[in-house]
Amino acid sequence: MLVQLRRTLSRSLSSVVYRVALAMKPQVIFVLGGPGAGKGTQCAKIVETYGYTHLSAGDLLRAERTRVGSEFGQLIDTHIKDGKIVPVAITINLLKKAMEETMLLDREKFRFLIDGFPRNNDNLQGWSSVMEDKANVKFVLFFDCSDQVCIDRCLERGKSSGRTDDNRESLEKRIQTYLQSTRPIIEQYQQQGKVRTVDASRGVDEVFADVKDLLEKEG
Ligand code: ADP
Ligand code: C5P
Ligand code: MG
Repeated sequence: MLVQLRRTLSRSLSSVVYRVALAMKPQVIFVLGGPGAGKGTQCAKIVETYGYTHLSAGDLLRAERTRVGSEFGQLIDTHIKDGKIVPVAITINLLKKAMEETMLLDREKFRFLIDGFPRNNDNLQGWSSVMEDKANVKFVLFFDCSDQVCIDRCLERGKSSGRTDDNRESLEKRIQTYLQSTRPIIEQYQQQGKVRTVDASRGVDEVFADVKDLLEKEG
């Protein structure tokens, strides 16, 4: 009886210790895919259903671009129009700050979807040197669809998004950047067994059904 009680107590104590340890270290899912693959759309649905915080590197850069007093506005603006990847020193700072602020406001909010990052080798290096020991990357959620689907979706979005890069000229460059710089990063994670691929060419709800299955399997 006493032995059993001790065992139960020890089990629940180690479960508490485990959860506290996890709560202290941010748990991250990197969300990647071509421009317009539906990363933002699916992340919003994940946030609705599960307790994740969505941080889009592109959104953070767009906000920094227009922030009064930012010394990077011009640089970010030209990089975005040209579909180029902004130097990681800028992006990692924005991501780190957003993660810290989120956890400071609510320490239960330690699960993050980091959308559109790491997009190239520079991004990956920046993450490794600044965040490697501060956060745990669970896996890469990869929204896979053809370049043509990506282009069509971005052009459609461009009718109302007001984005300076949802036009044919920028899109050609963004697709090139994706193929040349981002795909090799996804490939690297693939070799480590850390990529979970979803066929993103289907409708929003069908894609999300797969995302849900996957997240529930991963726990
Ligand atoms: P990303 O963040 O990957 O660039 P978004 O989530 O912003 O992509 O989606 C790009 C555009 O495509 C948006 O206009 C969005 O409404 C639309 N969209 C997203 N997912 C789908 C889907 N599965 N089928 C059709 N259109 C989609
Ligand atoms: O992900 P999103 O489509 O919002 O990204 C828009 C642009 O923001 C990219 O084409 C790129 O110019 C910039 N970006 C970046 N580094 C990232 C994410 C986005 O430079 N990690
Ligand atoms: Mg997006």
